[in-house]
Amino acid sequence: MNKINFLDSVDWSFPVPISYGPNRINELPEICKTNNLGRPLLVTDKSSKDLPFMKKILQDLNRYSIKSDIFSDISPNPIDDEIYNGRSFYKEGKYDSIIAIGGGSGMDGGKAISLIANNSENLWDFEYEKSPINKLSSFPPLICIPTTAGTGAETESTAMVTNSELGMKLCVWHPKQKPITALLDPCLTVSLPKNLTAWTGTDALVHGIEAFCVNSLYSVADGMALQGLNLIGNNLLEVYKNPDNLNARGAMLIGSCLTGISFLKGLGLVHAISHMVGAVYDTQHGLTNAVILPQVLNFNKNEIQSKINSMNFAIFNEPGNFDNFYSNITQILDTLDIPDNLEKIGVKDNKITELAKKSSKDSAAFTNPKKASIQDLEKIIKKTIKKAR
Ligand SMILES: NC(=O)c1ccc[n+]([C@@H]2O[C@H](COP(=O)([O-])OP(=O)(O)OC[C@H]3O[C@@H](n4cnc5c(N)ncnc54)[C@H](O)[C@@H]3O)[C@@H](O)[C@H]2O)c1
Ligand SMILES: [Fe+2]
Repeated sequence: MNKINFLDSVDWSFPVPISYGPNRINELPEICKTNNLGRPLLVTDKSSKDLPFMKKILQDLNRYSIKSDIFSDISPNPIDDEIYNGRSFYKEGKYDSIIAIGGGSGMDGGKAISLIANNSENLWDFEYEKSPINKLSSFPPLICIPTTAGTGAETESTAMVTNSELGMKLCVWHPKQKPITALLDPCLTVSLPKNLTAWTGTDALVHGIEAFCVNSLYSVADGMALQGLNLIGNNLLEVYKNPDNLNARGAMLIGSCLTGISFLKGLGLVHAISHMVGAVYDTQHGLTNAVILPQVLNFNKNEIQSKINSMNFAIFNEPGNFDNFYSNITQILDTLDIPDNLEKIGVKDNKITELAKKSSKDSAAFTNPKKASIQDLEKIIKKTIKKAR
């Protein structure tokens, strides 16, 4: 069993200012004014651009004489070419800032564009694993507004983008590019359909579980993970049943933000595998995670024993062992109508080795509590394709 050493010296970071509350979206023009943003570019994904609140946001900005437009040529799993197109759009329109709004895809699109908007660098020079580029002119001011609960992607510049040449989903970022604020308004999440409420909510749940299970001394993140898991555990099924329950939507949005912050600590094999399945088969991120979670829990069983009781308390409000935890989790997945194998969402069994090799290189694989060989990954992926729980 892994043990944390409290004699280690560690450096923890904490992200950016967060404004939370129903209808706080109405404060966006004021936030732009305060920060001298006269020409922000709203970046979102293709289908979010037609959501009713997008039109209203543009009108509200206009009313304050803030001339804005929308760039929405971003796919559900953003692709590098789209980010380069976004940079050209930003430069040609002479924008001065970026408002990244949407689910993880829209926000990641906006964040990735912000990394290259003021320079001519290749996006892949910002890959997470590489040393950060030093000689750069400043990044455009960035505001992040999540409309799913969710990826928790609103407090950092990290963005998951598919590298079209490698067929891999990779993380880009820069430590000096931070959102000036994350604006969390639960009213924006009420229009999220039932299936996406379940899938994005499970993504937030998986963030908390994987981050809490990372074997490192990062107490700030652990606290965030447990409080986030508690809010998600007590509200995910409620928002699935009653999508208009704004109180529960609010709890989910805060929960997803907290578990999003908690994975400053790292993630695990659910995300490592899911990123590559998403890159190869274009599957929805949260849905893919939800299918994969049980087999990764089984694989990690012995290494996460010391974390199980706290997670049982946080999510299910009762103590319990691994078997209790596992069966409670699968019960949630059943209630949320999550398919019980990846085959049902289009994943074939002829790319298992390719997926395993790619997953082993994902940064989330490095923080999984149990080291996985390519053969281990192949076994997990094989099971999740046929019988995931
Ligand atoms: N950067 C990070 O830290 C991080 C973390 C986790 C996931 N991600 C990335 O985020 C993406 C997944 O994000 P997601 O799960 O939020 O889904 P998503 O952003 O792909 O959105 C899914 C669908 O929901 C729609 N939608 C979004 N908000 C809506 C609303 N309020 N009402 C109605 N429809 C709405 C979108 O238009 C889209 O069609 C993946 O690309 C994943 O890799 C990033
Ligand atoms: Fe995720």
